[in-house]
Amino acid sequence: MTTSTATQFIAFFGATGGCTNACLVHTLKAGFFATALARTPSKLTDMLLAQGLEKSIIDTQLTIVKGDIADLLAIKSVLTNNNTFESTAADSVQIASQIISGIGGTPQMRMSLSKPMTIDNPEICATTTKNIIQALQEIYSAHPSTTQHKPSIAVISTTGVSDVREDVPFGFRTFYHVGLAVPHRDKKEMERLVSENASSTGVFRGAVIVRPSLLKGDQSVKSGKGWQKLKVGKEDKPAVGFTVHRADVGQWICEQVVKTGGESYFGQKVTLTN
Ligand SMILES: NC(=O)c1ccc[n+]([C@@H]2O[C@H](COP(=O)([O-])OP(=O)(O)OC[C@H]3O[C@@H](n4cnc5c(N)ncnc54)[C@H](OP(=O)(O)O)[C@@H]3O)[C@@H](O)[C@H]2O)c1
Repeated sequence: MTTSTATQFIAFFGATGGCTNACLVHTLKAGFFATALARTPSKLTDMLLAQGLEKSIIDTQLTIVKGDIADLLAIKSVLTNNNTFESTAADSVQIASQIISGIGGTPQMRMSLSKPMTIDNPEICATTTKNIIQALQEIYSAHPSTTQHKPSIAVISTTGVSDVREDVPFGFRTFYHVGLAVPHRDKKEMERLVSENASSTGVFRGAVIVRPSLLKGDQSVKSGKGWQKLKVGKEDKPAVGFTVHRADVGQWICEQVVKTGGESYFGQKVTLTN
């Protein structure tokens, strides 16, 4: 396990996933400190080394916490500055300035005409969000001074879940609205929880909901077309397209949320497509 001692850091969940791994690579390259939850820490380290990051950067800027999203203690360690949260003196607790989550389940096909696709954990996104909220509530309760530095959150959701405007191209609508009904119910609940908890009395300072179109490619930051070539929309005026590269989504989140603080997108549901 590597450990950072920085005061400002970004907490990552799902950093072995394509979009979030690309975002973490750009974040570390830009000199930020970060923490990350990983079920298999060596998988994350290997992915970062394969992206061309130097081991010294990983060792000095990143703290990897081994754990599952069901493990509240591990989540609290990711959200704070150390891995022994329960024994930490009150005034030494630091809290992440931003949370980036790209947690998602593994798609699975099943014998059903009405709902042919499900995922291995159909409530993974909602469960992750609930657990992050509970972890923050426990941190605030144990260390009230941390409420002065509440983190913002950016979550990766999907197109096809808007109640305001259709954001899926015509040719994909049956696939999205029928085939992906199970994972989309989970994404909608995640969005609801995030939005509800980003008010002035909520656990988050602000929230950015990122809705990519169908993801293609992998995390490699050398692939993709570059974040500046993305079409970017808002919920009432979405950018409609078929696919978007994972590497570009991750880079957009780093450039427009991590590096800027994300304030200009707080409260928004941002569609991204190539
Ligand atoms: N597929 C699409 O076309 C599409 C379109 C729009 C949005 N999305 C959504 O966009 C998000 C990012 O997708 P992606 O393809 O970049 O990433 P991904 O491959 O779906 O990565 C999922 C991440 O979640 C982690 N994870 C899963 N279950 C976990 C658990 N119980 N505890 C801790 N970590 C857990 C995985 O860790 P491990 O490495 O340990 O498995 C991995 O880091 C996902 O939510 C996805 O559903 C997908």
